[in-house]
Amino acid sequence: MSADIRPEPAVLVTGGAGYIGSHVALALLDAGYNVVVLDNLATGFASAVPSAATFRQGDIADCQLVSQIIHTHNIDSVIHLGGSLLVGESSVDPLKYFENNVGGSSRFLRAAVKAGVRHVVFSSTAAVYGETESQPVREDCPTEPINPYGTSKLIIEGVLAASSRAHDFNYSSLRYFNVAGADPSGRSGQSSSEATHLIKVACEAACGKREGVRIFGDDYDTPDGTCVRDFIHVSDLAAAHVDALERLRQHPDEDLVLNCGYGHGYSVKEVLAAVERVSGYTFPQAVDARRAGDPAALVADNGKLLRTLPWRPRYDDLDLIVAHALNWERKLAGYTFEDA
Ligand code: UFG
Repeated sequence: MSADIRPEPAVLVTGGAGYIGSHVALALLDAGYNVVVLDNLATGFASAVPSAATFRQGDIADCQLVSQIIHTHNIDSVIHLGGSLLVGESSVDPLKYFENNVGGSSRFLRAAVKAGVRHVVFSSTAAVYGETESQPVREDCPTEPINPYGTSKLIIEGVLAASSRAHDFNYSSLRYFNVAGADPSGRSGQSSSEATHLIKVACEAACGKREGVRIFGDDYDTPDGTCVRDFIHVSDLAAAHVDALERLRQHPDEDLVLNCGYGHGYSVKEVLAAVERVSGYTFPQAVDARRAGDPAALVADNGKLLRTLPWRPRYDDLDLIVAHALNWERKLAGYTFEDA
């Protein structure tokens, strides 16, 4: 009898204990994949890893660990989200972003490709575009990031492009626009205690966890003077990862760079009004100085996403996104969870 019995293939999700990563793990499990999560818990939570996934605590830069996980779990595909992700913080501490995102990802990819990984889905960002001349932005628009976070992700896109030509793997860079909301049935959500993302911050204010919300600048060249963003529901974003992976498997000679957004934007003031409307609570809003590294508007042209993948939005509704985010916030605060 042969001793070479390989386990069922699995997909490795780095950063799978984080907000977006945990939703990606859920989407993969829902689609029938076996999932292994690698996360160092620097910002993630072990409790966020779905119970049906295998959890390995460790660093993406630990080549030995990465190689061992890939061999043990018969992994040929990775979804790589591990890294640092705050635009504001990246302007204050850029070297942290280059070390974690560029250094960490390069080491991870080297170990993964050497261990036989054939498909890589990478969590990139709309921050690679910077201040664009017109909205919505297409994937072939110039990429001129205005913050170190965007620069670090753009460098990894370049690393993937160059190394996929030299080695036997293909990749998809998914450029996330503003991710918000929570799993509609309450299985996961954004748990960070030091959140800076607008919808999360506003939901905390609506739940009485903070006094109010500061609006970072109301003198932008936008309809109401506040920044405009394209908010995509985290479960829709997670579903795009599964579809991108399946596309990579069906087209092993193809690489994909895709915007992930809905193609329309809301201003900061419109978002705050939605949170007040959906929650039924008003909270103080104070206009503050602009935040470093914030472009005035960022809205996706998602035509390529819609043409390339079977993906279609299921939760393209700001009030629904806010309702799901609020449900999660209330769950964290110990309220009884109710489906939105
Ligand atoms: N904002 C406020 N007050 C707050 C928090 C945010 O006014 O308390 C404003 C910001 O200035 C910005 C907008 O709300 O204009 C959105 O800010 P977020 O911090 O929620 O999100 P960012 O747009 O800075 O960044 C997010 C992701 C990035 C991604 C980007 C794409 O964190 O990874 O969206 O648009 F690149």
